[in-house]
Amino acid sequence: MNASDQPVHLVALAGSPRVRGNTDTLLAAALEGAEEAGARVERYDLRAMRIAPCVHCGGCTGGEGRCVINDDMQRLYEPLQVADRIVIASPVFFMGLTAQAKAMIDRCQPLWVRRDLGRPVSRATHERAALYLGAGGSDFAHLFDAPRTVLAAWYWTLEIFDRTELTFRAVDARGAIRDHPTALAQARQAGRALARRRLSEE
Ligand SMILES: Cc1cc2nc3c(=O)[nH]c(=O)nc-3n(C[C@H](O)[C@H](O)[C@H](O)COP(=O)(O)O)c2cc1C
Repeated sequence: MNASDQPVHLVALAGSPRVRGNTDTLLAAALEGAEEAGARVERYDLRAMRIAPCVHCGGCTGGEGRCVINDDMQRLYEPLQVADRIVIASPVFFMGLTAQAKAMIDRCQPLWVRRDLGRPVSRATHERAALYLGAGGSDFAHLFDAPRTVLAAWYWTLEIFDRTELTFRAVDARGAIRDHPTALAQARQAGRALARRRLSEE
């Protein structure tokens, strides 16, 4: 069996604390699309996981570069390395990602250390690609600048260079995204496209 015979493995990270909120709803639609396109989806709800912030203890800088904090983040290192596709959903909180999403990203420091030492991080069977799903309550022009900057560093760490995003401004109340004329169809399509992307070349 070669790599292209295997289904695309998609790891999804829900970063909002709000259950069935706007980014949760976008994520659900995107994952439906990805599954329609044949992806094997594995979803993690960060709000339900115990992930402490990085304490910069230096524990990951030596040896095998493992994080010494024993919490639910340990369950994510393997999926983050083997996933062919990653979807991260997070609303804008104080112009950035949520604390849940940022704590998870900061805890990827052991992977950054590996990458910085020139050692491989990705163990994917297909080329990697990522999708960011975002929502924010205001229509501020720079609403997604900070999330994009953080995600660019995270994607570099994960060796993901094919990056897309689907973001919506002026979406505030829980479930308001459902009133958007095209958002859910766009999310479904983005999930489908992510699952299929470049498969013919792999
Ligand atoms: C703590 C907090 C901070 C927020 N900060 C911003 C912000 O800086 N800019 C903005 O446009 N909306 C902000 N919002 C609004 C959320 O981005 C908005 O309600 C979003 O739709 C929530 O998505 P969710 O339902 O997926 O959680 C904030 C909301 C909270 C609770």
